[in-house]
Amino acid sequence: MVRALARVDLRAIERNAARMARAAAPAVLCAVVKADGYGHGMIACARAARSGGATWLAVATAQEARGLRDGGLDGPVLVMGALSGEELALAVAARADVVAWREDFVAAIPDGTGVHVKLDSGMGRLGTRDAGEATRVAAAVAAAPGLRLAGAMTHFATADDDPGFLAEQLAAFTPWAQRLREHYPGLLVHAANSAATLREPSARFDMVRCGIALYGMDPFGEDPALHGLEPALSLRSYVAEVKRVEPGQSAGYGRRFVAAEPTWLGMLPIGYGDGYRRALTNNADVLVDGRRVPLVGTVSMDNVTVDLGPEPPPRGAEAVLIGAQGSERILAEELAERVGTINYEITCAISARVPREYP
Ligand SMILES: Cc1ncc(COP(=O)(O)O)c(C=O)c1O
Repeated sequence: MVRALARVDLRAIERNAARMARAAAPAVLCAVVKADGYGHGMIACARAARSGGATWLAVATAQEARGLRDGGLDGPVLVMGALSGEELALAVAARADVVAWREDFVAAIPDGTGVHVKLDSGMGRLGTRDAGEATRVAAAVAAAPGLRLAGAMTHFATADDDPGFLAEQLAAFTPWAQRLREHYPGLLVHAANSAATLREPSARFDMVRCGIALYGMDPFGEDPALHGLEPALSLRSYVAEVKRVEPGQSAGYGRRFVAAEPTWLGMLPIGYGDGYRRALTNNADVLVDGRRVPLVGTVSMDNVTVDLGPEPPPRGAEAVLIGAQGSERILAEELAERVGTINYEITCAISARVPREYP
């Protein structure tokens, strides 16, 4: 019995990738596997996404690109994040393409590198807001004998919740990208994340960059099944101790649970040190014995307590904190809603202490 375990169904990731590849076609699929595959394990997920039809892989950092190569992944890799001089060298040594939006950065890129020029069409993060500057950066890349002008890109701020602003961003990006592609045939134009891929056909261009959907989580925070996606990750622990409490007895730090009636409590050896958020204190359900039982009291670093009611299961019973058991299930989206965050953060938070298992 492992105290805390993240089990990742790679076949689900493969099917989700195939689902997104079908939605995107004829655009190709780039699988976004940064942040350790949104907490699911970068290498295993990259392989599964490739089996499902992803052509490209995208990460945020040079170190992640190095990790992909060390993990035996070939093929095109894009580092999407900002890079210091040192990191640029590491990305290029890993044979990754990089993103540029300033001419002085282009001058620093070592020969042999593929470059994607980024227009900031409204995200207000990386990229230049000035289409003229973006065009000059593309020209500088094209003129540099050692560099390859590989792509033109942007990123959407509201693909998941505001189609109006998505349309504004598309209106800013599309004419620029089309002019550039006419000038540089073969240029790969890409913009869409998972939400835009599902919602907006005109955002798909030549390639889509999908992360959240590959892991079977819903980019709109709803039930993933609505978009034909299958959650890949389950977070498991077990009932390590069962204890009877009488009215007035409490459990956990700060006595934030005090029994109103006699009941049986179960101790699960998993806590915020494993990435199970402390904000779930007195505010989550866990699946034990095929039923939902309430988490009671404070989430500690290494333990949580659940109220098993009058008929507790034996010690050793499996506990599911994210995932399905019997006919019940708890989605990352449910936990996200409870703590006021997004599903992305729920799985990214699962810490390195939790082994990932690929059954
Ligand atoms: C630049 C860029 N493109 C694509 C993605 C993938 O987004 P999603 O996980 O919503 O599909 C991300 C992730 O945040 C990103 O930063």
